[in-house]
Amino acid sequence: MHKKIDVNDHANEIARALERGVLLTTKAGEKVNSMVIGWGHVGRIWERPVFVAYVRTCRYTHELLDANPEFTVNVPVGGFDRRAFAICGAKSGRDMDKIAAAGLTISAPETVSVPGIKEFPLTLECRVIYREAQTAARLPEEIRRRFYTVETEDHVAYYGEITAAYLIED
Ligand SMILES: Cc1cc2nc3c(=O)[nH]c(=O)nc-3n(C[C@H](O)[C@H](O)[C@H](O)COP(=O)(O)O)c2cc1C
Repeated sequence: MHKKIDVNDHANEIARALERGVLLTTKAGEKVNSMVIGWGHVGRIWERPVFVAYVRTCRYTHELLDANPEFTVNVPVGGFDRRAFAICGAKSGRDMDKIAAAGLTISAPETVSVPGIKEFPLTLECRVIYREAQTAARLPEEIRRRFYTVETEDHVAYYGEITAAYLIED
């Protein structure tokens, strides 16, 4: 069961959760994949609510987003099994089925083709309406040196229009 929420009522909670990591889930064909993200934000642009995620071009998630420009953001509520992060935040979906390995349960979506994750119940369904490759060369040297040493580490900003927001309840 889904309990509808107003994303603005949870923006603070989402920002706090991002400090420790949340999941970003994608799906192309039959392949569902979750990765941990720490950078992102809820906002508003073009008269729409959006979640902006920053994904490095080397990630399998980047490939999946190119194939199917939809994602869900999966935020923990209360406690959760940190082992899911050890897998989804360090292993690549190119090499394994991370959903199965992390013992995650997918949950049918409402408005996109990408499922939510029951164990991370605060869910934003998003459709990418804009993407922008960042240019590391434009950053202050201190940031560039710390975060970008090779080109495959560059980020793409994905602006996902939030098409549904809810808590997954059993
Ligand atoms: C706490 C934490 C935050 C992370 N934040 C991001 C992020 O915002 N963007 C990103 O591209 N990778 C981030 N990562 C790294 C990816 O989660 C990791 O490389 C993952 O294995 C990529 O999976 P994939 O290849 O299946 O897409 C983060 C990892 C951790 C542990």
